[in-house]
Amino acid sequence: MAFDYARYLAAKATVDDRALNRHVLAELRRLLPAGTPRVLEVGAGLGTMVARLMDWGAVGAGEYILLDADQHLLDCSRRWLCDWAAARGLRSDPLPDGLQVGELRVRLVHAELGSYLEAGHEALADVLIANAVLDLVDVPAVLPGLLRLLVPGGAYWFTINYDGESIFMPGHPHDDKVMRAYHRDMDERIRYGRPAGESQTGRRLFHYLRAAGAPALAAGSSDWVVSASPDGNYQGDEAYFVGSILSTIKNALQARQDRVDPGDLADWLAARGRQLAAGELVYLAHQLDFAGRAPG
Ligand SMILES: C[S@@+](CC[C@H](N)C(=O)[O-])C[C@H]1O[C@@H](n2cnc3c(N)ncnc32)[C@H](O)[C@@H]1O
Repeated sequence: MAFDYARYLAAKATVDDRALNRHVLAELRRLLPAGTPRVLEVGAGLGTMVARLMDWGAVGAGEYILLDADQHLLDCSRRWLCDWAAARGLRSDPLPDGLQVGELRVRLVHAELGSYLEAGHEALADVLIANAVLDLVDVPAVLPGLLRLLVPGGAYWFTINYDGESIFMPGHPHDDKVMRAYHRDMDERIRYGRPAGESQTGRRLFHYLRAAGAPALAAGSSDWVVSASPDGNYQGDEAYFVGSILSTIKNALQARQDRVDPGDLADWLAARGRQLAAGELVYLAHQLDFAGRAPG
């Protein structure tokens, strides 16, 4: 059940399209400066967000930086964005550090977020975006430095922040023990030598943002809702997306026999895999989006 992370992120795009909270997006649009803003997206992965924001007419010109710790994903991003632009009849041209897409200069920056913040930066961003990322980092430690990457009063849009609830339907007798163990793994996870997220990031962000002097101006839920259509097929590559979530749970828990019995985990995964193949599995994850301004 090893999975291709770039394919997972591409498959996730249609799920995020439905999930992103439109009220919070409207607030972002109000906060966006006119002209040619400098946008920084941290943990940008494949770059599906810059494509989405161009599709949705929220971003069209200026500079958009994709920062990620994974060089392989950034390499895939170049190709993925070229293909995306070509499919829309948009001109794209390679640049030494990224690519030009229409009027937008997309720059790819390979960096681990904590180290990037420690290095200090002079060129500040007008807009800061993190999608499905803040639940992978130590928010109280990282947030003040992140907000300092913005010009005073610059806009942030922090989206798809996991908030402690994953639901797979139909119900299974091992659901509670598997989810309890998975959430504990999230709470104790270490990546790049640093604490890496917590299972209730979404609800805690209200307080974290206020404590950092940047209370949310808009907040709302952005739950993932994935189910097959009446013909039993999932939209786009969303069956792969749900399969990747199952793989993530397996990878997190299979070495943790103290957390969940290996037989119970195997039964649960086998049942979920069968339901997915039959188009019977429904997957829901509760998440929250936020928009606001950096301290002025
Ligand atoms: C769940 S993916 C989301 C990617 C993208 N934002 C999206 O929604 O498609 C999380 C991304 O954050 C990156 N990431 C995780 N921890 C990071 C860190 N400490 N510094 C930089 N990037 C990080 C990963 O490499 C990955 O691309």
